[in-house]
Amino acid sequence: MVVFKEPGKLNTRKTLEIAIERARKIPSKKLLIASVTGYSAKMAVEMARELELIVVTHHTGFKEPDTQEFDENTRKLLKEKGHEVLTATHALSAGERGLRRKFGGIYPLEIIANTLRMFSEGVKVAVEISLMAADAGLVKTSELVVACGGTESGLDSAVVIKPANSSNLFDLKIVELLCMPSNI
Ligand SMILES: Cc1cc2nc3c(=O)[nH]c(=O)nc-3n(C[C@H](O)[C@H](O)[C@H](O)COP(=O)(O)O)c2cc1C
Repeated sequence: MVVFKEPGKLNTRKTLEIAIERARKIPSKKLLIASVTGYSAKMAVEMARELELIVVTHHTGFKEPDTQEFDENTRKLLKEKGHEVLTATHALSAGERGLRRKFGGIYPLEIIANTLRMFSEGVKVAVEISLMAADAGLVKTSELVVACGGTESGLDSAVVIKPANSSNLFDLKIVELLCMPSNI
């Protein structure tokens, strides 16, 4: 496992190199990337030949009501190249964030999310996008995939995951931690 000195966008290229090398060796050849703006997705599409990319964006309205942050030209480019772009409800916050904002407190999905953040923000995101992709039918619960996330922007964590549907979320398995940032 590679441990980066610090979290963040500066680790994006190296994370992709590590993730792509591992994804080439798994039968599904599927690489999941969290990308808010398209920055990481664009870098991945240039580097990840022979792999199927599944790019997961923020849900519409994450930042501003009814607004999507992902660059539409990048979405088009990815689709033209035969990759998938998924925009859906976040599996590890969903409506619970709305409950917290209105009533306060903390709810089970966000407790799970915060527990995964004890590894890194990106590991939490890798798990979340794997659930989202499984619920959208883009990955199977029987196959291994490589999933990448980061800390707010770019990528700094990559994980081999056996996905699950969100209705069986504890069936998801983290199989290998490929890279993550140091927590200290
Ligand atoms: C569904 C989803 C959930 C995310 N959740 C978090 C999070 O909890 N914490 C965090 O630091 N970043 C989070 N991110 C950001 C990603 O980890 C990653 O840094 C970002 O998608 C890269 O976007 P870019 O390609 O525009 O740089 C999330 C992104 C997505 C798509």
